[in-house]
Amino acid sequence: MATAIETGTETIAVDELRAMLVERRPVTILDVRAAADRAEWAIPGSRHVDAYEALKAGDPAALAGVELPVGEPVVTVCGAGKASLTAMALLRARGIDARSLAGGMKAWSLAWNGAEVPVPGSAATVVQVRRTGKGCLSYLIGNAGEAAVIDAALDPEVYQGLAAERGWRIAHVLDTHVHADHLSRSRLLAKRAGATLHLPAQDRVAYPFAPLRYGDALAIGASHLVALLTPGHTIESTSYLLDGTALFTGDTLFLAGVGRPDLEASAEEAATRARLLSRSLRELTALAAGTLVLPGHTSEPVPFDERPIAATLGDVVERVPMLRMTEDAFVEIILARIPPTPPNHAAIVAFNETGELPEGDPTDLEAGANRCAVS
Ligand SMILES: [Fe+2]
Repeated sequence: MATAIETGTETIAVDELRAMLVERRPVTILDVRAAADRAEWAIPGSRHVDAYEALKAGDPAALAGVELPVGEPVVTVCGAGKASLTAMALLRARGIDARSLAGGMKAWSLAWNGAEVPVPGSAATVVQVRRTGKGCLSYLIGNAGEAAVIDAALDPEVYQGLAAERGWRIAHVLDTHVHADHLSRSRLLAKRAGATLHLPAQDRVAYPFAPLRYGDALAIGASHLVALLTPGHTIESTSYLLDGTALFTGDTLFLAGVGRPDLEASAEEAATRARLLSRSLRELTALAAGTLVLPGHTSEPVPFDERPIAATLGDVVERVPMLRMTEDAFVEIILARIPPTPPNHAAIVAFNETGELPEGDPTDLEAGANRCAVS
């Protein structure tokens, strides 16, 4: 159908909007998608008007009832950056300084923010790097000029920039497991930074790495990172304990749930992994209650608030009843509560096993919310 309204071309790139939010510059973000799409994932602090159908139909009154703050720039957002151009044009016709987010929520998938995590009992500084557009959490750990990165899910330049700002040299890059929800950037980061790539010992990946086995320790300046094999989510899943006080749990343990044991597994294998997961979690929850849990994902878009997503182990055990069940009850419950299988997980695993990245836009494969947790 021909549209009755101009669409215009004034766009804003993800990086520019990201910078505005990091710097807390005034901006109103207007999400014009259908309610069901917004429910999947959204930009923190954005406003919503369910105008997608009206915009697509070229209805000049699509945003008629929407009141916006005077004198504040507006960024319109949709799924892929098309309907938001129409929304932007309607707002500009009202004299509002509006731009459309180029590439929409798909491009926003790569947006990130950071938070420094205070870790009592460790001399290391930990930066939680949050891929807010997708919920992946990665970590930069620095001590005495040296640094390690865990679960790199963003372009290497992000981690290299954060390390350079602090005068750190990235010496180690680690993954907690072979990821199924995002393309690991760890191999590329290790190569660019001249760092050693460490992965849990396994025969899944087809490229060279330094294998980590149970109890292996890496030095980061005066700090130590110890590998604890915690199979279940995947067979090679490994958690890393920093200076005996902060635990990077990957997709084994989240703040409000546990990892799913079923991806790339038959029903029988999923049941075996669920049992392994129960045992791994029993071992982790036996650590000191004050241990800080730093997970590999969150199921909510991460606000630009510099507040770490972390909790003590004691709090997590209290919050997640599954952690207090018998092994049999745990296995039964987790298998009954498996969420829908995320899109493209098999293709993402295949890339992570070969160590290649797809040509072109990685967000084509990575689109969609994280569904790594069972709670
Ligand atoms: Fe995972």
